[in-house]
Amino acid sequence: MSAKTGTIRIGEKTVDMPVRSGTIGPDVVDIGKLYGATGAFTYDPGFLSTAACESKITYIDGDEGVLLHRGYAIEELASQGDFLETCYLLLYGELPTAAQKSDFDYRVTRHTMVHDQMSRFFQGFRRDAHPMAVMVGAVGALAAFYHDSTDITDPTQRMIASMRMIAKMPTLAAMAYKYNVGQPFVYPKNDLDYASNFLRMCFAVPCEDYKINPVIARALDRIFILHADHEQNASTSTVRLAGSTGANPFACIAAGIAALWGPAHGGANEICLQMLAEIGTVDRIPQFIARAKDKNDPFKLMGFGHRVYKNFDPRAKIMHKTCHEVLKELGIKDDPLLDVAMELEKIALNDEYFIERKLYPNVDFYSGITLKAIGFPTSMFTVLFAVARTVGWIAQWKEMIEDPNQKIGRPRQLYTGQPARKYVETAKR
Ligand code: SDX
Repeated sequence: MSAKTGTIRIGEKTVDMPVRSGTIGPDVVDIGKLYGATGAFTYDPGFLSTAACESKITYIDGDEGVLLHRGYAIEELASQGDFLETCYLLLYGELPTAAQKSDFDYRVTRHTMVHDQMSRFFQGFRRDAHPMAVMVGAVGALAAFYHDSTDITDPTQRMIASMRMIAKMPTLAAMAYKYNVGQPFVYPKNDLDYASNFLRMCFAVPCEDYKINPVIARALDRIFILHADHEQNASTSTVRLAGSTGANPFACIAAGIAALWGPAHGGANEICLQMLAEIGTVDRIPQFIARAKDKNDPFKLMGFGHRVYKNFDPRAKIMHKTCHEVLKELGIKDDPLLDVAMELEKIALNDEYFIERKLYPNVDFYSGITLKAIGFPTSMFTVLFAVARTVGWIAQWKEMIEDPNQKIGRPRQLYTGQPARKYVETAKR
């Protein structure tokens, strides 16, 4: 089959460029030679029509509401496996055998402790600091403690850094929470699974044992799976760009955490719960829907809409089911926030404004209600998102570093500022 090409004509210049097809999904036009041939750049702020890289990790079909990790549907991974199985799949590309899974669990478990001086590092923050601010600082500081896994050219060090990140994020997140609430840090226990260990590090206190509820632990593990990776979203693109300069993995993940914090991205789960609380009761929904539609009002319906999904976010459906499971297990019969969320979803999905713009609930819509029921304060919601997304950031970072064609990312611009002009001395201004 002859290779496909795209043709661009700019004035008198016509340029043919190769069109590449992936395994599934849209083709891409390789415009690498465009500037050299025409002197023009492409222009796509927000990257609505731009593929920034080639990847084998995650595929999203926004129109069909499909999410695949290494070809496996999120619905199957979330219902059949656990989070560390998904971590293995994202990192190595295949589902682990029983022996590989047991070895991977062992290796992750034995990296969960952090250098004990990290606890002194936390003392430098105000107690009321937002846990995401603490996480950006603490994760970036890991490079100051683990010099033996910062050489990105060494595959062994890359894998050790990857295991350290996946293993230590729950420990650091729990420390950020404990520091915020003024309770002593709780060390990880090697006989607990990933989600149970995290719950215990967050909620155990020296005065009494913490009883792990297996239904809640399983629900949290599933929530981690739902947030593990999501193609080239803003925070993953940040990690890739930082990594393309050769920065160490801890610094790259800290950059990803910073990007995730934004309310348009991972910060939406915290703001969404605040929005549901502000709406308060079902009868107040219409006025908020009106605000969301009002061009002069910056208010957006948090937890709704997505750059890629123009159908239901498959994760939101699983999140919704998990939300009901957790509330039932905890005996929370009528959560007013859930009543508001379900009514809001029903109204929005039947409103022309949302239908026309294909705005559906995303992964952040039901996660906040679930995490609040489990006992996390809203300020910890995005931290939990970061804990889960670390494996996706790391897998994408490794893929970029190991790409033989990898270059430093350095976009250009459309310059609309002043033309060259002469300096004017102060007296003449
Ligand atoms: C995540 O990229 C990822 O994969 C992210 C993520 C991941 O796993 O990494 O999935 C996680 O970040 C989920 C998204 C969480 N954010 C929110 O819930 C915040 C609320 N959503 C919006 O801010 C918005 O929908 C975005 C940022 C998510 C997507 O914005 P886009 O793709 O740039 O779309 P847009 O802002 O251009 O919106 C298109 C239209 C606009 O109206 P018009 O100008 O065409 O009239 O839809 C409107 C927007 O005003 N719109 C909304 C809306 N989202 C979009 N109107 C009201 N409420 C909303 N939530």
